[in-house]
Amino acid sequence: MARHTVVAMPGDGIGKVVLPEAIRVLEAVGFDAEYVHGDIGWDFWVSEGNALPERTVALLAKHKLGLFGAITSKPNKDAEAELSPALKGKGFKYFSPIVGMRQKFNLDICVRPCKSYPGNPLNFVRKRPDGAVEEPAVNAVIFRQNTEGLYAGVEWTNPSTQVRDAIATHPKFKAFDKVPSDEMALSVRIITRQGATRICTAAFEYAKRHGFKNVTICEKPNVLRETSGLMEEVAKEVAKKYPAVALWSVNIDAMTMWLTKNPEEYGVIVASNLFGDVISDAFAGLVGGLGFACSGNIGDEVAVFEPTHGSAPKYAELKPSIVNPIATILSAAMLAEHVGDVERAKKIEAAVAAVVREGKVRTYDMARLPGGPDALKRGAHNTRELGDAIIAKLK
Ligand code: NAI
Ligand code: MG
Repeated sequence: MARHTVVAMPGDGIGKVVLPEAIRVLEAVGFDAEYVHGDIGWDFWVSEGNALPERTVALLAKHKLGLFGAITSKPNKDAEAELSPALKGKGFKYFSPIVGMRQKFNLDICVRPCKSYPGNPLNFVRKRPDGAVEEPAVNAVIFRQNTEGLYAGVEWTNPSTQVRDAIATHPKFKAFDKVPSDEMALSVRIITRQGATRICTAAFEYAKRHGFKNVTICEKPNVLRETSGLMEEVAKEVAKKYPAVALWSVNIDAMTMWLTKNPEEYGVIVASNLFGDVISDAFAGLVGGLGFACSGNIGDEVAVFEPTHGSAPKYAELKPSIVNPIATILSAAMLAEHVGDVERAKKIEAAVAAVVREGKVRTYDMARLPGGPDALKRGAHNTRELGDAIIAKLK
């Protein structure tokens, strides 16, 4: 019997293409696992009124480990229109299966490494005073609180009187007193001490384990005095337990500036949900973008690894597929590391690094070609060829 059972959830669009590549790589490196398929995504919304069927939830609850491709989601009106006729008008409401997964299993720690691999033409470069180009090595790991903050889903359009009255107890609401409710939308930013402690602790633990000298808390406590204030306070508390790791504090707006000037100065970064989402996409842009952005959603019991990109519908039907499988392959390496197989995780990463360094096999994004059916004719390699090249390095 295999040591691990991984719930493989390809989902929609290019998820169906990149996930099999990651599994091929895990198999080639000798990761001791078997794979069970999990249904997820738009098709199941259409046919069952649930993009995250209970049977998939049960598989995750049982096996604790998931590898996920991508899903398609659409606005409410489209969701209602595409629902199968038998289910229409029966009260089904579309809900993102990823958010659902994070909430059901409290996958509150989101880890998003953004590392530049030398040889990638998409890496961030800048000019020296003498005009020469330099390419700093970027190695940032973003810890994003995954379940709270502005994404907790506590929000209203046209809030009820009860909600309004509650908020009106805050003196600052006076400024909005005259605005009719149907002209207003509200989202609540909730930060809990427990959630903040868990994400900050995860960041410091990672820094300690991987030899990072500092952790940067990236919030906005001078303005969001309560919620960002609590994040900062907790980060300072947690930092006391890690004397060898310094705590840096940078505001989210300044962070986006620093990371596009001196990204190499940052290592582990910790942030609340929305800020972490923004900062991780921004850093990903410095190291190759969506084709390279891997992630893990980690809870106490269950962990699900996924590329951060979506289903890229415009490329989903291309045969052969042109998209870059590296984000998913690096997510698979994170999965291996998570269950303690550090050696195989390192092997996968080294194989990716070697292929990128050689630069012989590049999907359209790495070749800096326009995406689309012509990309292959212009010299880009397809998804499978890149998967093959990585597997060849493992042998
Ligand atoms: P997307 O990430 O699917 O694609 C945006 C663009 O990025 C693509 O058109 C393509 O140019 C490029 N791209 C994405 N993945 C790539 C890869 N592996 N290799 C090369 N290029 C790649 O985002 P978009 O177009 O905004 O959303 C499409 C669908 O995906 C929507 O339905 C959206 O809701 C969903 N989505 C799902 C996510 C998830 O499953 N985690 C995350 C983001 C969007
Ligand atoms: Mg995002």
